[in-house]
Amino acid sequence: MKYLILSDIHSNVEALTAVLRRVQRKRFDRVIILGDVVGYGADPNLTVDKVRRLKRSIIIRGNHDKVCSGLENGEMFNKVALESARWTEDKLLPRHRKWLASLPKGPVRVGEWISISHGTPLDEDAYIFGEIEALNMFNYFDTRVCFFGHSHFPVLFGLDREALTTHIPHTNGGTYRLKLREDSRYLINPGSIGQPRDGDRRASFGIFDDQRMTMTILRVSYPYERTQEKIRAAGLPAPLADRLALGR
Ligand SMILES: [Fe+2]
Repeated sequence: MKYLILSDIHSNVEALTAVLRRVQRKRFDRVIILGDVVGYGADPNLTVDKVRRLKRSIIIRGNHDKVCSGLENGEMFNKVALESARWTEDKLLPRHRKWLASLPKGPVRVGEWISISHGTPLDEDAYIFGEIEALNMFNYFDTRVCFFGHSHFPVLFGLDREALTTHIPHTNGGTYRLKLREDSRYLINPGSIGQPRDGDRRASFGIFDDQRMTMTILRVSYPYERTQEKIRAAGLPAPLADRLALGR
């Protein structure tokens, strides 16, 4: 089976459109979405519309989906995140807000090989940044692979009997591929579509092939200036627009 892995879209419809256009001629058996469909960007309704139209999809909620749909009050959010969540909650169509509030909490198991979580398999709101967090989290899922999001940073952690190996996907040419080893388990973040934070402003996403056991991370350019204009025109906090140019 081939899985398209999308995470942290954050109401960025231009980035999502570019990603879906890039993969339109590929065949996918399932689409996995690791949460944070909304929050930050100026197009929550268009983005939710597009996501809901994806066929054979499995979606879990992210922390922004919870706050923007009124499930949580966002007391842990910083000022910029909270302001955008309030704005999003106000703009969301009731049917989309209801749909977001109904999304399942991770971790969720997908088939034989895969677990999915927004933050960590233990806590949907916690981050995996480095090797110490990653190593600990291998105890909290029992599949070969666990996909996660939340940090907006594409990374692959592989664990065999001896050691943990960190793979930072180098995607200068737009594509990075890793053949997964038989003797290893993996924690994989495909990066963020709508708010990348690894210094590369292109949308980041993944493709997992469980026949070949390959994981591919891809980057796609999109007209981010247009997204910035919309964020500014909506009166959303300026840093949300500024950081799109930098990918930070
Ligand atoms: Fe996020």
